[in-house]
Amino acid sequence: MRKLIIVTMISIVITTISFYSCRNNKHSQFNNNEDSLKAVIAHGEYLANHVAACIHCHSKRDFSKYSGPVIPGTEGGGGEIFDIRTATLYGKNITPDTATGIGSWTDDEILRAITKGISKNGDTLYPLMPYKHFNKMDKKDLISIIAYLRTLKPIKNNVPARGPKVPLSAIYPVEELQASLEMNICPDKSDTVKYGEYLVTVGDCTGCHSTVINNKFNAELLLGGGGMFKKDSFAVFAANITPDSTTGIGTWTEEIFLNKFKLYRERKNYDYDPGKYNTIMPISDFAGMTDEDLKAIYAYLRTVPPISNKVEKYPK
Ligand code: HEC
Ligand code: HEC
Repeated sequence: MRKLIIVTMISIVITTISFYSCRNNKHSQFNNNEDSLKAVIAHGEYLANHVAACIHCHSKRDFSKYSGPVIPGTEGGGGEIFDIRTATLYGKNITPDTATGIGSWTDDEILRAITKGISKNGDTLYPLMPYKHFNKMDKKDLISIIAYLRTLKPIKNNVPARGPKVPLSAIYPVEELQASLEMNICPDKSDTVKYGEYLVTVGDCTGCHSTVINNKFNAELLLGGGGMFKKDSFAVFAANITPDSTTGIGTWTEEIFLNKFKLYRERKNYDYDPGKYNTIMPISDFAGMTDEDLKAIYAYLRTVPPISNKVEKYPK
């Protein structure tokens, strides 16, 4: 266990030498290895909590509060239920607990699960876990996330196996995954639209905001509004976030868009029970994205084809 951590740390430090993409320039010069390691872990923490929403899906959530924030103390411990049409899934324990989490997994095994959807025991994961998108991530970003996961408090929680309603083979393979991650790059932040597109991929925005027909995203409705998500206390449809001005967010200025997220940087703004007007979008986590990153997402969303599709968020 200790040895594993040390191996991870060493490989990370080596990687940081050429670590520039998606990183804050102020971190690009380190005084020593310890500083560079801290920066890698901080970057992984940012991605896992505020962009890729790993911690959101892999912890217990409190849906008596707006957007179901993570219950403190359950970070990465898994157990949240995803009752989808084809299976009952559970967010897995991704803390370093060796018996019930991923403490005994190697970095490569974790990387394979995140980007190829193959668990340590060879089992194929349901694509609700957005590995199709993580498969397009810069390897440096993925390594930062793994380094951060290693720092989580180990939680002993034996998560039940999923209960399939339809065999996975009936709905998989959904899409070809690329074998090598080596060509993946996080675009330069100065290339705002491209960088925004990368964040939209990592944040799995299309996963919720597009309509799925026969287990395939309908390319005609990419980001044009998704299906219904049901929880015990509410049901909600994912909005149309294309630039269509009557049914999408075409009339939203950058300021309106930023404020939609920034509001939830303050706990008091989601610390209430919205009853049936709740949402499954992890906006209290996305709120932690930097203004720069939110602006890039906005810039990219302005460039996608507008789709006319009226969505009533809350069914009558
Ligand atoms: C939308 C929710 C969601 C998000 C976001 C998500 N996961 Fe998952 N993840 C799941 C579910 C559900 C499973 C189990 C799937 C199954 O049982 O087939 C899973 C499985 C895994 C596994 C395999 C664990 C095992 O025991 O087999 C790992 C590792 C993992 N996720 C890590 C991550 C990381 C790291 C991120 C962020 C980069 C992430 N996940 C983002 C829902 C999610
Ligand atoms: C887990 C599913 C899910 C994910 C992931 C998700 N969303 Fe959402 N989103 C929703 C739902 C459901 C709504 C409608 C309810 C609400 O306003 O929260 C919504 C609403 C929105 C709205 C408000 C639109 C309006 O007309 O009021 C914006 C903007 C938005 N999402 C952007 C994003 C972006 C950008 C991402 C990726 C970084 C993202 N969403 C990821 C489910 C999701």
